[in-house]
Amino acid sequence: MTKQILVLPGDGIGPEIMSQAVKVLEQVNQQFNLGFSLVEDVIGGAAIDKHGVPLADETLALAHKSDAVLLGAVGGPKWDTLDRAIRPERGLLKIRSEMKLFANLRPAMLYKQLAEASTLKPEVVSGLDILIVRELTGGIYFGSPRDTVTLENGERKAFDTLPYSESEIRRIAKVGFEMARLRNKKLCSVDKANVLESSRLWREVVTELAKDYPDIELSHMYVDNAAMQLVRAPKQFDVIVTDNMFGDILSDEASMLTGSIGMLPSASLDAQNKGMYEPCHGSAPDIAGQNLANPLATILSVSMMLRYSFNEVRAADAIEQAVSQVLDQGLRTGDIFSHGMTKVSTDAMGDAVVTALAKL
Ligand code: IPM
Ligand code: MG
Repeated sequence: MTKQILVLPGDGIGPEIMSQAVKVLEQVNQQFNLGFSLVEDVIGGAAIDKHGVPLADETLALAHKSDAVLLGAVGGPKWDTLDRAIRPERGLLKIRSEMKLFANLRPAMLYKQLAEASTLKPEVVSGLDILIVRELTGGIYFGSPRDTVTLENGERKAFDTLPYSESEIRRIAKVGFEMARLRNKKLCSVDKANVLESSRLWREVVTELAKDYPDIELSHMYVDNAAMQLVRAPKQFDVIVTDNMFGDILSDEASMLTGSIGMLPSASLDAQNKGMYEPCHGSAPDIAGQNLANPLATILSVSMMLRYSFNEVRAADAIEQAVSQVLDQGLRTGDIFSHGMTKVSTDAMGDAVVTALAKL
């Protein structure tokens, strides 16, 4: 049976990095006889240009019908002045929410070849391997009421709402515990329970659930402390579970420990492990169209897709091995370049991964 993958390149560097990921996907498809068929559509600014909305109904229907979605990045200055309701980012939030992709897995792993590329001392980051589990369909990103109003005195006032129900907390915490079980059995739940109601419930529910996971060492940390600990001693963490906004912020921070956000893939999964896979980075409009972007985060997202949605472990391992080999060869895009290495373009990096794969 063929399995359909929906490819959504998006905006900015999205199309460039996606063509490299598609090359890699086509290579493994053939090499490991995976039986994938690819369909492509638009999201974000590209969809606004084509349909007037950042996610068309037919694209969403295609996503529902597909077995997995691979996404590049959305957004750019061209669409920044549009009304919030039709900005490119709304397309991304809508597809996450409509597909019920509540569990966002963001691994931050340091390739040993890139220890020099991190802004932190090599001894602080070497061997780093953290997984951030971010709640993705709730919290302040989706809470209502939210609005900007004008008060009687003419002053403008804006507000957002940060709601979490017990069941939303429990299902993401469960993912955190399960992931910890597959790794080093340590889970750190990050919240702001000293200030926020939603965080107090978060902490209570996570603590209750811990009874089902006696083999997991659970800790709790306030988000401000977690932000500090991530740069002070990041190797103390194994799995971090946290809410939508804290996870957004901490995952960008964690990415820099690994040298570049250009290396980090992510998986967003629903309750059945159906998922959307995307790099953690954005659309980088400043370097778009120049063949400069690092395609490895998107290529590694393909590997996560093979692992989590299709259980194609051999093909997933092969991609990771190929990426490691091109780093061994000294090939670097600008974001991970360091002295003595060979600077390559987006295309050349993609080609090198395909060549390495074909030899495995
Ligand atoms: C991310 C991004 C998105 C988010 C933006 C583009 C809406 O920063 O995936 O981390 O905030 O979730
Ligand atoms: Mg982000």
